Amino acid sequence: MILVTGGAGFIGSNFVLDWLAHSDEPVVNLDALTYAGNRRNLASLNGDARHIFVRGDIGDRALIDRLLAEYRPRALVHFAAESHVDRSIHGPGAFIKTNVEGTYTLLEAARAHWSTLGEADKAAFRFHHVSTDEVYGSLAPGAPAFTEDHVYEPNSPYSASKAASDHLVRAWHNTYGLPVVTTNCSNNYGPFHFPEKLIPLMIVNALAGKPLPVYGDGQQIRDWLYVTDHCSAIRAVLAKGRLGETYNIGGWNEKPNIEIVQTICALLDELRPAAEGSYTRFITYVKDRPGHDRRYAIDARKIERELGWRPAETFETGIRKTVQWYLEHADWVAEVQSGSYRDWVDANYAKR
Ligand code: NAD
Ligand code: DAU
Repeated sequence: MILVTGGAGFIGSNFVLDWLAHSDEPVVNLDALTYAGNRRNLASLNGDARHIFVRGDIGDRALIDRLLAEYRPRALVHFAAESHVDRSIHGPGAFIKTNVEGTYTLLEAARAHWSTLGEADKAAFRFHHVSTDEVYGSLAPGAPAFTEDHVYEPNSPYSASKAASDHLVRAWHNTYGLPVVTTNCSNNYGPFHFPEKLIPLMIVNALAGKPLPVYGDGQQIRDWLYVTDHCSAIRAVLAKGRLGETYNIGGWNEKPNIEIVQTICALLDELRPAAEGSYTRFITYVKDRPGHDRRYAIDARKIERELGWRPAETFETGIRKTVQWYLEHADWVAEVQSGSYRDWVDANYAKR
């Protein structure tokens, strides 16, 4: 079996669902259920013996030791993190705690467990660290996309904490021989995306007739990847990736934010037309994010060359599916927008 951390979050829950759709290998899913974790994402697995959910913190060494000893997973796929750049600006402490100290705890627990394995199991074991393209910093217009050799230049507390975790993972491989692989992925979107991030926020705000807050001039560029393509890339790297290597994952889909917002409005105009006119009337330019990275772009040729992976979705197919998913899951949206979500919206947008 495999042990997944953060499997009740956006990408983690998609990964668990995708994994069990492709294989019968069981998953132990360790998640602290922070504001971003939601067991409802995994409701379709209720009663499925292949999924074992454990609520707990990756910083709890005794718990991790117990899970590794009890389930003896052949691989650990590490998604758990604080993941939102804006929240890291408001409160960086949780990012250091989970992303840096939590990853350290997992690495130490994995190393202790791995060192007790027989030679064959030791060779087969994997620690798969799920990371981000944000560790590379910001690209100038026209500069080549991030390769795996790009210098680390993180600019936000979030990306700095992820960069630190990447360095720890690298060091645990080079120093102790722990069999690690790291993936650095671009911006994901799709079902179960928490509506604090650009794409789901714009969909749910438009449907609620609220402003669509575009930071700065809206010309910042992100490289968008449909979430199930990220999942298939992780499966490929886990199965065939070379030990100690980093693989960049991206969608070959660079787009400025304002174009994303306009596309969402156009899809909503088509799928849920409003008598008052186009949803674009809600677009509102607001104060920029401090330290805002101007452009990310992933050069995903290494994973294609070595592992034969390419995204299956284009942006056009992926964004249409995503908008449709949000239209069909108003109950999910209503549930995640209750309670602390409203406090976050006030904290981030009231003074912009
Ligand atoms: P998310 O915020 O939606 O989910 C994070 C999950 O981790 C939640 O279920 C949360 O409850 C859990 N968690 C948080 N702290 C924990 C702790 N201390 N112990 C156990 N569980 C904890 O994040 P996401 O967008 O799904 O991102 C998952 C991973 O992928 C992160 O490591 C992130 O850095 C990385 N990543 C995300 C993107 C993206 O576009 N969202 C792109 C590239 C890489
Ligand atoms: O690149 C990968 C990263 O993508 C992941 O590592 C992060 O976990 C993930 O959150 C995401 O980070 P971003 O900061 O790029 O995502 P976000 O959705 O917060 O913002 C995308 C862009 O949209 C960014 O340029 C900021 C802008 N934005 C965002 C919000 C929430 C707005 O203009 N308005 C908004 O209200």
